[in-house]
Amino acid sequence: MLRAKVAPEWFSKIESNIGSALVDHAHLEKRAATTALTLERYPELYDRVEELNAIAIEELEHFQLVLQILRRREIPFGPALPSPWIKGLMRSMRSGQGVQVIDHLLCCCLIEGRSCEKFQILADGFRATDPELASFYGGLVESEGNHYAAYLLMARQIDERETDRRLDYYLDLDAELMGAPNPWPALH
Ligand SMILES: [Fe+2]
Ligand SMILES: [Fe+2]
Repeated sequence: MLRAKVAPEWFSKIESNIGSALVDHAHLEKRAATTALTLERYPELYDRVEELNAIAIEELEHFQLVLQILRRREIPFGPALPSPWIKGLMRSMRSGQGVQVIDHLLCCCLIEGRSCEKFQILADGFRATDPELASFYGGLVESEGNHYAAYLLMARQIDERETDRRLDYYLDLDAELMGAPNPWPALH
């Protein structure tokens, strides 16, 4: 579905700055947990509260797992890195009843989808050099893939035609933003 590939140099940038990348990953999981709870404010998602809580709990568990890796490797927790990609997606969110919820879900869907893809790249890339990280990232792939599917399904159940129309827009935007890679060793 995605219309642009992850830049081939992305993995080596992460590998050579793994401390900052892991700290950034920890923030990403924390943000994913708070975002799942934030989505509960849309009336269209009132009947998905339990499902969103379950996603938030899973993301918090991921956050804890990254923190454990940081502790084991004696990497101090620090600030998140900037992500022009996430900022670019969120900036394009329309406001207004019925449309903001679709855009918000689609942004979450793309973030989860790209995380799923990138965690697989990390699992493959670290297999030979860092088996602990390889198995850690391999273990997250399915969960992030499920979150991607859950958000897409939620949006489609609110308005299928509008979701597919906006998804087309967001896939183009994602491809455009992916063309300007982040100079920081950030996950996104
Ligand atoms: Fe996660
Ligand atoms: Fe996730």
